[in-house]
Amino acid sequence: MAKIEKNVPTMEKEPELLNVLEVDGVPLPVLSKEWWDKICNFQAKPDDLILATYPKSGTHWMQEILDMIQNNGDVEKCKTDHSLHRHPFLELKFPHKEKPDLEIALEMSSPRLIKTHLPSHLIPPSIWKENCKIVYVARNPKDCLVSYYHFHRMASFLPDLQNLEEFYEKFILGKVLYGSWFDHVKGWWAAKDTHRILYLFYEDIKKNPKHEIHKVLEFLDKTVSEDVVNKIVHHTSFDVMKDNPMANHTAVPSHIFNHSISKFMRKGMPGDWKNHFTVAMNENFDKHYEKKMARSTLNFCPDI
Ligand code: A3P
Repeated sequence: MAKIEKNVPTMEKEPELLNVLEVDGVPLPVLSKEWWDKICNFQAKPDDLILATYPKSGTHWMQEILDMIQNNGDVEKCKTDHSLHRHPFLELKFPHKEKPDLEIALEMSSPRLIKTHLPSHLIPPSIWKENCKIVYVARNPKDCLVSYYHFHRMASFLPDLQNLEEFYEKFILGKVLYGSWFDHVKGWWAAKDTHRILYLFYEDIKKNPKHEIHKVLEFLDKTVSEDVVNKIVHHTSFDVMKDNPMANHTAVPSHIFNHSISKFMRKGMPGDWKNHFTVAMNENFDKHYEKKMARSTLNFCPDI
């Protein structure tokens, strides 16, 4: 059973917008202990599709791909609502929404697509029990870190930071929301050996979206024409999503996401960390990476 440590008061920026609960040492943006119990007791259905990621790993990109697949490439159906409203985040309550996403999930008709950033060991047990299919997307940690840092700058509900260096330290120590990137990617990597998990990499999708979309189709036992696959590739490309108001998060009120500070669809480029890390930061990160990933069979391309 998960150990709930404490309610951590929210830090500097908009204290009333976010509550942080530490569960098994992992800081989670969860409303309260009572709410955490509700999340743990979430009743999954066998046809639920779960999209799991560490933050800033391409969640909304994969969400758009899955939505296009579920809608057989019908772009208009994928534009019926903003992506934060189309599919719920299991554990989140957005400041601009009236109710927590969990309640929205409970009211949704099947088949549901549900997103989560929870580490594998904190996933509601019914998801395992019902043998739900899970798509996990992992991203190179250095790019994840940089993207997460910029997200903190633009999202009013996340703590304010002095600079990238401060965030870098916190990220390495796992002292950010959802905890350690290292534990997250390793936990889900191990879980895939015993559960129905398709483990994908952001960089692979970027390099060859068609190939990775075919993997998703196979995992979901879906067949669509090659025309539809091409449509999915196009509709979910960075440039098209960046200009799609139903996918670029510009519909979120500006006091929640301030796009004048940093865009949600920011760069979408593997290797952006090179524009942010100093040589010393990179060397230190590599040392830490080696230590944390030493016994794992999980490999991220070191050159990215
Ligand atoms: P950057 O900040 O590096 O640009 P998440 O959805 O998990 O919050 O991840 C957001 C990151 O995914 C952002 O990274 C965003 O730009 C990137 N992203 C979103 N859609 C993308 C797409 N179609 N192609 C490539 N990257 C995308």
